[in-house]
Amino acid sequence: MINTSKKLPTGSVIGIIGGGQLGRMLSQSAKILGYKTVILDPVPLCPAGQVSDHQIVGNYNSLSAANSLSNMCDVVTYEFENVDLNCLLKISENIDVFPSPEILKISSNRILEKEKLRKIGAPTVEFFPINSIDDFNQAQKIIGFPMIIKTASSGYDGKGQKLLKSEHDIDDYLINSIKIKKAFIAEDFLDFNCEISVICARNIEGEIITFFPSENIHENHILDISIVPPRVSKKIISSARNLAKNIAESLDLVGLLAVEMFLTKNNELLINELAPRPHNSGHYTMNGCETSQFTQLIKILTKQPLGNSNLSCASVMINLLGDLWINNSSKPNLEKLNKSKNIFVHLYGKDEPRIGRKMGHINITSNNISDAYIKAMEIKSKLSN
Ligand SMILES: Nc1ncnc2c1ncn2[C@@H]1O[C@H](COP(=O)(O)OP(=O)(O)O)[C@@H](O)[C@H]1O
Ligand SMILES: [Mg+2]
Repeated sequence: MINTSKKLPTGSVIGIIGGGQLGRMLSQSAKILGYKTVILDPVPLCPAGQVSDHQIVGNYNSLSAANSLSNMCDVVTYEFENVDLNCLLKISENIDVFPSPEILKISSNRILEKEKLRKIGAPTVEFFPINSIDDFNQAQKIIGFPMIIKTASSGYDGKGQKLLKSEHDIDDYLINSIKIKKAFIAEDFLDFNCEISVICARNIEGEIITFFPSENIHENHILDISIVPPRVSKKIISSARNLAKNIAESLDLVGLLAVEMFLTKNNELLINELAPRPHNSGHYTMNGCETSQFTQLIKILTKQPLGNSNLSCASVMINLLGDLWINNSSKPNLEKLNKSKNIFVHLYGKDEPRIGRKMGHINITSNNISDAYIKAMEIKSKLSN
């Protein structure tokens, strides 16, 4: 249900489903603009719960928890894709939910997502949906090897994915998973030039902007660093922004949409996946743009015009994973870094470091990207010593 497009007065309450770092930074931006936030997350004092007005400690699939959230708030959003769709649809009968549950339904299922992209004419990597062993046999004929196979839903940071270089990599676990009707998608495994992403922001009036694209380098399928501007041609930058804008408009987005893309060896952009929420590759916007991705989303949720999101400087973002705490003899010395000019450390309030767990990030800004990149590499090598 969409209400009239009037600005929500300050003091209004924004509900956020999911209490991780994205919810935390969203909540911090809401506070700066004078709004209140309520978080729904099963873990007490989760990263977002620490900086919000209230936390409902409840499971994501609990309708009563979702109803409590809806009763306390003026608008609801979510910070991750594995939100319970039925709960979201139910509460959307009584409260604005942005982005719409329909968009979440598409983006949380890789098959629906790729089929939708194909339908709207957005280029994707070659894919084949797998719901049975017959489909899997067919996929091997059509896609061939190397092939990447991904669970249709619930995957993130490379979880639920397997690279099949040849038929020898097909194991019993995969065959049994297909037999028990777990849905997968098979994709051509690309030897790409680089990965870039574009975050699009669109409000209820249809006002739309795209943030400057970021070049993303992953390690073990987890984002390691983002480089902005990306090291690609102006033409690619403008095509990437146009692609993202067209997808957001085709989905009638109200909110943020991160569009992940591959740049192939033939200089062709192919869409990898969509995320209707703030995105790790957009963390540079906190120090590299006048209006960050988080502030932009708060403006959208509270029915305000969008802010200026032009690039104010070049940025490199480094993710700080739990590995740094676990693999080194001493804790990373972040206090010293934070005192340096043009270096911004953001921590997520997570007590327990784990391998692959995102603990924080560092933005390094400069008036030119090679300088920011060199500084970022120096910091990265010092941190892992
Ligand atoms: N078809 C593909 N070809 C080559 N690399 C891929 C392909 N799909 C995914 N990857 C690599 O794995 C990373 C994670 O995959 P992705 O589909 O984005 O899932 P998620 O981010 O949800 O875990 C991508 O950023 C990319 O580095
Ligand atoms: Mg991804």
